[in-house]
Amino acid sequence: MQIISTVKELEKSLSAIKKEEKAIGLVPTMGALHAGHASLVKRSVEENDVTVVSVFVNPTQFNDKNDLNNYPRTLEADCLLLSDLGVTIVFAPTVEEIYPEPDTRKFSYPPIDSVMEGARRPGHFNGVCQIVSKLFNMVSPNKAYFGEKDFQQIAVIRAMVKALNIPVEICPCPIIREETGLALSSRNTLLSEEEKATATNISRILFASVDFAAQHSVKETHEMVVSQLNSIDGLEVEYFQIVDGITLQPVNLWEDTDYIMGCITVYCGARPIRLIDNIKYK
Ligand code: PAF
Repeated sequence: MQIISTVKELEKSLSAIKKEEKAIGLVPTMGALHAGHASLVKRSVEENDVTVVSVFVNPTQFNDKNDLNNYPRTLEADCLLLSDLGVTIVFAPTVEEIYPEPDTRKFSYPPIDSVMEGARRPGHFNGVCQIVSKLFNMVSPNKAYFGEKDFQQIAVIRAMVKALNIPVEICPCPIIREETGLALSSRNTLLSEEEKATATNISRILFASVDFAAQHSVKETHEMVVSQLNSIDGLEVEYFQIVDGITLQPVNLWEDTDYIMGCITVYCGARPIRLIDNIKYK
């Protein structure tokens, strides 16, 4: 496994691979890798000749300086985990390497990027599109793998790929959960054990809401999730939206469409830590 930190070295390594017309899988990450990332990497290794994993905490997608500063950085442990998974290249550049000049490009894919995370984190998806488009240009992958925990991110990246005619297949991968149901996230490492136990209520209540939804309206299901979570000490729902799985626009009736997701963001604990999760209703 090669660990590369410059674009030049990356291009050099990939040029030989491209000449041989090998299939390249890309797994973009911000590091602090866990079993969720490992599942994306395993799938890429299975489906491609070569897997490139990028490890880069992308500053342009953070709208909160504290969040950026507190984001866990564990490159050594990340490389150890990746070396066991059959990865060919780890690309771990510096900020200066990726952004020698400020990236002034603007990406906008309304209405997909203007709801939920997009409405609450101004500039977040613009930053995601900046880094992901750069990585796609640098690596030219055949396939790129993203976790469904960031459900809206996948929809925005799909919209970007379509708008810019980027020849890459976007491969969404299911959320990996702890035994408790808590969706794996690099941010979980910032929770105390007690906060982590509290956070398990997020998935518990989302799972319970699927049965509840069979007998209740969209509005009642929405109210049930928000009120149950907000009644737990240490949790505060930022938003919960029941949306069409393609357009990400709110649905009013279960009959409105045949693909419906519930997307949630909850603040957990004293700091607090912002956790996201989602559930499929149909
Ligand atoms: O999902 C993430 O970890 C990041 O948003 C991504 C796709 C690696 C871009 O920085």
